[in-house]
Amino acid sequence: MISKETIDKVFEFARVEEVIADFVVLKKSGANYKGLSPFTNEKTPSFVVSPAKQIWKDFSSGKGGNVIAFLMEHEHFNYPESIKYIANKYNIEIEETTNFSQNIDKKNEIESLYIINKFALSSFKENLNNEASSALEYLTKRGLSNEVINEFDLGFCLSNGTSFYKESKANGFKDSYLEKSGLIIFNEGKVIDRFRERVIFPIKSLSGRVLGFGGRIMKSSQKIAKYINSPESEVYNKSKVLYGIYESRQSIVKDDLCLLVEGYMDVLQFHQNGIKNVLASSGTSLTEDQITLVSRLTSNIVLLFDGDKAGVDASLRSTDMILEKGLNVKICSFPEGEDPDSFVKNNKKEKTLDFISQNSKDFIEFKLSFYDEELNDEDKKVEVIRSVIKSISKIQDRLKQEIYIKKCSQILDIDEATLFNSLNIEEKNNYRLNKNRKKIQKSSLSVIQKEKKIKKHNHIFELEKQIITILLKYGEKEIAYEDTIASEDDNGEIKEESKNIKSKVFEKIFLDLQQDEIEFAHPPFQKIYKKLIEIYNSQNEFSYDKFINELDSDLSKIATDILIFDDKHSLHDWEKRNIYVKKIGSDLSQLVIETLFNLRRYLIDARIKKLQEINKDKNKDELLQEVMSYSRLKKVISSKLNRVV
Ligand code: CTP
Ligand code: MN
Repeated sequence: MISKETIDKVFEFARVEEVIADFVVLKKSGANYKGLSPFTNEKTPSFVVSPAKQIWKDFSSGKGGNVIAFLMEHEHFNYPESIKYIANKYNIEIEETTNFSQNIDKKNEIESLYIINKFALSSFKENLNNEASSALEYLTKRGLSNEVINEFDLGFCLSNGTSFYKESKANGFKDSYLEKSGLIIFNEGKVIDRFRERVIFPIKSLSGRVLGFGGRIMKSSQKIAKYINSPESEVYNKSKVLYGIYESRQSIVKDDLCLLVEGYMDVLQFHQNGIKNVLASSGTSLTEDQITLVSRLTSNIVLLFDGDKAGVDASLRSTDMILEKGLNVKICSFPEGEDPDSFVKNNKKEKTLDFISQNSKDFIEFKLSFYDEELNDEDKKVEVIRSVIKSISKIQDRLKQEIYIKKCSQILDIDEATLFNSLNIEEKNNYRLNKNRKKIQKSSLSVIQKEKKIKKHNHIFELEKQIITILLKYGEKEIAYEDTIASEDDNGEIKEESKNIKSKVFEKIFLDLQQDEIEFAHPPFQKIYKKLIEIYNSQNEFSYDKFINELDSDLSKIATDILIFDDKHSLHDWEKRNIYVKKIGSDLSQLVIETLFNLRRYLIDARIKKLQEINKDKNKDELLQEVMSYSRLKKVISSKLNRVV
């Protein structure tokens, strides 16, 4: 683990505008910086960075947050990777804490393998760029430019069988690690370079670390395998990687689509022709982990494969797995004798994209057209339909299932009810199969989508957000207001009197909500609220970035959204929705008090509604009393707001 001191230092030194400037061209605009969104293909800049608040917001995609959130979104780093990136940029030494010596050994091994791989990459690259290299000629002949060759760090391992080993030893690498990396094969006292005389394709992680290598021979031969790959190691697990993920990640996000091909050359040739949202499974059939990897970037996949039987079988298997993971999948097969590599080389970008869009079929169309002949045979037809229904049963989204059932019913001219019936049977089957396995991940809406959904005409949502906004922006300001205080006099009688009270905004909000025992209806707001109150109560000064940095990423996104909108914008919306608020600035205490009243009013309304619903069959008198007491309270509040109920 990275030490807390290192993390603190990273936050102290990192400037969000400096880190982002490494990836996005930013221009000063008032107090902020603006640029083109790196997440969409927009033409007018709507990506905003606030140096004062140390946050960023991308209005075209809805993303936003602190500097770490940017690296996680843009570079797809995880948290420690982001911390390390910044530490590196600002020359901060990374201290790691770890308790078990076993872990240290393992960590050392992993780090050593990464270092060896990095070294191998540069050595292979150098060989390729060596003037006399036949490998460079080979790649050029296959149509790759120096630009693509460089971007993908292609290389060459020399022919004599020991030169990489010798070079590694000269650079101090240990035999045991060289063996574990798979770069060198040790056999009965002999050593040999695994990739000798092969063109090298480095296989990278999402964050660009070199995990392993693929190597291709340059002349066709029946005696040795055309391609070989690094063996499995602590850093290379072939079922978890996809070739091209590092080079294609941004395009996949921007296009919100991933083209999945089989081979290294397919990926390279697509890039060569300007289609950059492409990954390869490297000849193996797709795994769950690989789909999870893609799902970090997009939920739309098109499988591209050569039309042979093996290709079809593999993609049919992949299809169900992708559907099960909640992603959308289409399948596009290429004409006989062509693979994506040859097709794009012959037809170039536009025609290839046209071909893909015209020939991509959803799994129903694909299965039905593939088993065209079987559909004429009644017995076989049943099997095909069952297999289609099986695919539909893997989809987690009810609505999508219904659409596919309708489609299936139309194409096959079978009653919808019958199809739904067999769908039910399949689903029960799946349930049994999955019962002992881990629960299937449901495709989940993003925070932004969820927020938008709730937001629609939901006054409570708006008011809770407003309370958070007030707390964030004015929590420590002082307000004065009049309040009735109930007190006991000397004779034990209760009397009410008006008093002028002064307090800080956060104190007023805290006390009022506590008095009503009000919990926010929306859990994210409740969490932010608790954190804010905690900070205000315990700290002397409040800093935005410190606060944002302490929140989980989902919450910090919400807080960022609140902070980045200017007051005018949010108030404008408010008035349109007929929520009663005064302008900020004109009178802060009025704003605080009215917002609190409004929230109480709506929450009480909600409580009344809920009571009426839950207690439909219960004792009417009791219910009536409770509802009436709430209604009275509502009246009091409304009268204070000068409004009719
Ligand atoms: N593959 C492999 N081992 C092999 C053959 C293939 O690992 N012996 C993997 C490689 O990742 C290869 C992919 O499967 O890129 C697809 O194989 P294939 O279609 O045979 O090769 P192509 O991609 O067409 O390669 P090339 O055009 O260079 O012949
Ligand atoms: Mn090929």
